[in-house]
Amino acid sequence: MKEKRGEFSSRLGFIIAATGSAVGLGNVWGFPTNTASNGGAAFVVTYFFLAFLLAYPALMAELVIGRCTRANIYSALENISATPLSRWSGRCIGAYAIAVATAILSFYSLVAGWMLAHLLASASELAGNTAVQNWLERASLARNLLCAGVFSILTVTVVSHGVQRGIERWSERLMPALLLLLIVLIIYVLQQPGAMTGLSLYLLPDFSEVFHPSLLLSALGQAFFSLSLGVGTMLIYGSYVRREDNLPALGAWVTLVDTSVAFLAGLLIIPALFVAQELGITIYRDGSLIAGPDLIFQVLPTLFDSMGANGTVVALAFFLLMTIAALTSSISMLEVPVALIAEKTPLSRVTASWLAGSLVFGASAGIAANFDTLFSLVVTLTTEYSQPLLGIALCMFAGWVLHRDRLLAEIRAGFDGVEQSLFWKIWPFYVRVICPLLIGAAFLQSIIQ
Ligand code: PFF
Repeated sequence: MKEKRGEFSSRLGFIIAATGSAVGLGNVWGFPTNTASNGGAAFVVTYFFLAFLLAYPALMAELVIGRCTRANIYSALENISATPLSRWSGRCIGAYAIAVATAILSFYSLVAGWMLAHLLASASELAGNTAVQNWLERASLARNLLCAGVFSILTVTVVSHGVQRGIERWSERLMPALLLLLIVLIIYVLQQPGAMTGLSLYLLPDFSEVFHPSLLLSALGQAFFSLSLGVGTMLIYGSYVRREDNLPALGAWVTLVDTSVAFLAGLLIIPALFVAQELGITIYRDGSLIAGPDLIFQVLPTLFDSMGANGTVVALAFFLLMTIAALTSSISMLEVPVALIAEKTPLSRVTASWLAGSLVFGASAGIAANFDTLFSLVVTLTTEYSQPLLGIALCMFAGWVLHRDRLLAEIRAGFDGVEQSLFWKIWPFYVRVICPLLIGAAFLQSIIQ
């Protein structure tokens, strides 16, 4: 017999799981590095603005479609469509979104594997096992496959336990740990010489940079990636929200926590760069701050090494933070294909999880073996092109395809008097017209550039 469909046990359970999805490598790595390469605080201001102006309405579109259909993205888009043409496009868009979620997970697991490798390397150093430490610190195909494999097994194990006993329970365990590690690391780094120079770069905006087109685009892409939009993760999490819960409030909480954690991560990474500079480590290349993998795997490890005995513990805490952040996000990505398989085939959730996990690991191995040709190609195609386009499609489905009465009834279920609220006065038009136009304009500009 098929298992009962899962549901989050409480509002808090959903908020923690959804922020677990949102808070990931995108916050702790992507946001600070984007800030570093886009004029410091000017990027921070633009990012917060766009997160609430564009990403929050798009997040609401996914949550509403998810809860009103209580299905995976493929069936959900089909279900809200009234005509054969929109049913057909719903199925195509749903299938594309699931493919993109799977592709994002396949490169994400690889990067998470690097984090895990450095975490285990710090643990080996503490245990005095230099041979293992050296092996784990040096990039090799064997190390990358092993660590991505272990990470994938962790992801599958959580997802296979279902919504409450897997996703919700583990997000509730891991997210407080993540927050605690982040705060302890910030306090430590801010006390080191040089940190205040980084802090002022981070917090004092140069407003002449704010309207720079490339900055706008990076901020939009970052906001969509960070809130896990477009690929059906928020839609499927929305489908597990209880009917009596207030969706606009839940969505606002998720956006607020996600942006706050990104902000906190900036308080750690940017000052850490300047602490490194104080210790004689190069932090600028070609006139801008070092971003990308070199920041995480060269500048920061050199900084940790030069901190003496404390450095190993700081490194351990930092890579544990990164691994946890990645895990709570990867479980949400795996849930996308798993929900499809479990809902559309007779397979159980456990089998569906292992099947989807193996598929993703196969794709990760393919990318790892052809890293130079595939890695940045997959990242660009999925996050820069597909996520915004799918975001537009989901806004249009919520705004034009989902019947207005059904939309209103769904939001009203957990939000008495929604008709009189500011949310209802603005959001329906916004998600129909403004969001697709603005996301589309930003996207076109990125192609033309
Ligand atoms: N939001 C995650 C991060 O910031 O790292 C990444 C992500 C998760 C993207 C889930 C897409 C997704 F479906």
